Amino acid sequence: MTIYNEQLSQYITNLFAKEDPALQRSKEESRNYGLPGINIQPEEGRFLQILASICSAKKAVEIGTLGGYSGIWIARGLRPGGKLYTVEREAKHAEIAQAQFAAAGLHEKIEVKVGDAHDLLPGLREFGPYDLVFIDAEKSGYPMYFSWAVENIRIGGIIAAHNAFQGGKVAAPGESDPQTTQMRNFNQLAADDHRLLSTIYPAGDGTLVAVKLA
Ligand SMILES: C[S@@+](CC[C@H](N)C(=O)[O-])C[C@H]1O[C@@H](n2cnc3c(N)ncnc32)[C@H](O)[C@@H]1O
Repeated sequence: MTIYNEQLSQYITNLFAKEDPALQRSKEESRNYGLPGINIQPEEGRFLQILASICSAKKAVEIGTLGGYSGIWIARGLRPGGKLYTVEREAKHAEIAQAQFAAAGLHEKIEVKVGDAHDLLPGLREFGPYDLVFIDAEKSGYPMYFSWAVENIRIGGIIAAHNAFQGGKVAAPGESDPQTTQMRNFNQLAADDHRLLSTIYPAGDGTLVAVKLA
């Protein structure tokens, strides 16, 4: 069995997910302004771009913008004229992301919604149904975000949720801290939902992926 590791991650990144100046800048600016370095990895970004492309996404939602890194990847997978609504609670994060989207030439494709996702998602219903929803915010909110996503994507639409591995702890029998338990419960919720076809893409910290069947 091949064990996925840093070397293979680098191999994929070098082949398929090299960062252009806009992606590099979004990470650099985030660092310069003191944002936490908790953006997704390049090969995870490429995967999101592919998911958007696979479902011919024209309308997408991201929950958890940070400095705009993942948003750039997703927006690049949208069809011409497509739109990504990205929701961010912290005004400072949203401001930095907005600047990165403009610098990447994506300002017309991405709209940043500033506020708590719990408050903003109900209002986003009117622009749906969506083709793709990416969840990457606080873990306690995942069940609510997932349930909103299932209700608001079309059949054939895709939901992706980051950190499905919780740093590898979900599969470690001795681990029972609250975040790991939360993520195990979340993964189980997706696995048990017969309206969806789900799995976990095992690069980076794991991305749960679900396609809506009915
Ligand atoms: C892991 S980071 C997102 C990383 C980003 N997706 C990327 O890869 O570039 C999580 C972000 O979600 C935001 N966040 C956390 N809880 C939130 C909530 N309830 N509503 C909206 N945003 C939230 C945080 O402020 C943070 O910027």
